[in-house]
Amino acid sequence: MSLDIVILAAGQGTRMRSALPKVLHPVAGNSMLGHVIHSARQLSPEGIHVVIGHGAERVREQLAGDDLNFVLQDKQLGTGHAVAQALPALTAETVLILYGDVPLIQVETLHRLLALVNDQQLGLLTVTLEDPTGYGRIVRDAQHRVSAIVEHKDATEAQKAIKEGNTGILAVPGKRLADWLGRLSNKNAQGEYYLTDVIAMAVNDGLVVATAQPDDAMEVQGANDRKQLAELERHYQQREARRLMALGVTLRDPARFDVRGDVTVGRDVMIDVNVILEGRVVIEDDVLIGPNCVIKDSTLRKGAVIKANSHLEGAIVGEGADAGPFARLRPGSVLDARAHVGNFVELKNAHLGEGAKAGHLTYLGDAVIGARTNIGAGTITCNYDGANKHKTVMGEDVFIGSNNSLVAPVHIASGASTAAGSTINQDVPAEQLAVARARQRNIEGWTRPVKIKKG
Ligand code: UD1
Ligand code: CA
Repeated sequence: MSLDIVILAAGQGTRMRSALPKVLHPVAGNSMLGHVIHSARQLSPEGIHVVIGHGAERVREQLAGDDLNFVLQDKQLGTGHAVAQALPALTAETVLILYGDVPLIQVETLHRLLALVNDQQLGLLTVTLEDPTGYGRIVRDAQHRVSAIVEHKDATEAQKAIKEGNTGILAVPGKRLADWLGRLSNKNAQGEYYLTDVIAMAVNDGLVVATAQPDDAMEVQGANDRKQLAELERHYQQREARRLMALGVTLRDPARFDVRGDVTVGRDVMIDVNVILEGRVVIEDDVLIGPNCVIKDSTLRKGAVIKANSHLEGAIVGEGADAGPFARLRPGSVLDARAHVGNFVELKNAHLGEGAKAGHLTYLGDAVIGARTNIGAGTITCNYDGANKHKTVMGEDVFIGSNNSLVAPVHIASGASTAAGSTINQDVPAEQLAVARARQRNIEGWTRPVKIKKG
């Protein structure tokens, strides 16, 4: 069965009080519309048609994708009018309607809904709510068959008592849609072309409206204001925390853990409180992540340990390697197995070989460091000459004394040592000691200056 998906995303979202179009507001680091598109893609449709209006250019720019057909709805004349804008591009047997501000809808729920659709049947996703105020109500006949949807503002008191609400998400046979949308009128309480009026038309044409429900009402919850946005965020995070725990991760507190991207985990991973995982993060077995760490687009190999308050971006931490507390690994940082990076150490485009160590207060940029090499406290690579970046290369078993300035480009061969406080601007041959600091003088009979009294 071929499928076209139409995502409605033209509304303004006045209650967000924001310059940002509503559907671009983020949940878990991705725009709400981005989440809906992600789910839509998993259904492998012929086309994804995004109806845009308010902030159209920004939405188009931020979400551009080869497989997306953006359709402009100049004036927001109603949900039926919105779908009608996409009609010329719809060719598939089934058309599924989704909403750019309803981001948590699950693919499994949509599969259940789509399974209901055929030439003679529509699929409508409904939800039973304690307080359905604002929702279109599902009107059923004596045989309990759906006969119509009545919008809240058009409903009689008796209809308002109905607790089954319209989620707005529905799937219809594509070839009937143009006819139904063409017959919509806006003679109703809101003066809009309601997509929901299609239901009564379908029933009059002899079709059956079959219904499905989401497993969880939050799947169909939209965000109209910042409070609802925060509720969606929390719900997403709870879901993600449960998913990771089911895979064998211990979260010290699932309520103090945030994922803003795609996380892959092994078993017996331990994550302490206030950890944020962003982008693509791969965590292998037995990894420990201490409290207050931000880890973005990084890979942590088996048994790696990230101690408290560390910030990683674009880093690979090898098997049994450790970083932190207070380590900063910037893009291109690679720690081979059992390498160690301690507190207040910053790495950028730097590769530490197996068992290499930089324990304290160090900056290593554009550096390749061999196995077992030890970098003394306070050492920095001077990798930037004001115009270009240069490389620092060290062999294996090098010993860099404390507080060295390594002026790149420079090469320190295997087994070499440098004295504490050195400014190394020449290559150091293997096994030699470089001393590059002023020789100490002790001045005999030195008298300290005496404070001069004022006035
Ligand atoms: C709609 C349904 C209602 C349902 C409710 C669930 C209709 C007529 N009513 O009501 O039965 O219970 O959703 O939340 O469909 N949009 C456009 N262009 C437009 C109008 C709307 O793109 O011209 C988009 C909005 O940005 C929004 C969505 O469609 O994302 C829903 O529109 P909205 O006006 O909020 O519909 P509701 O009144 O909530
Ligand atoms: Ca709404």
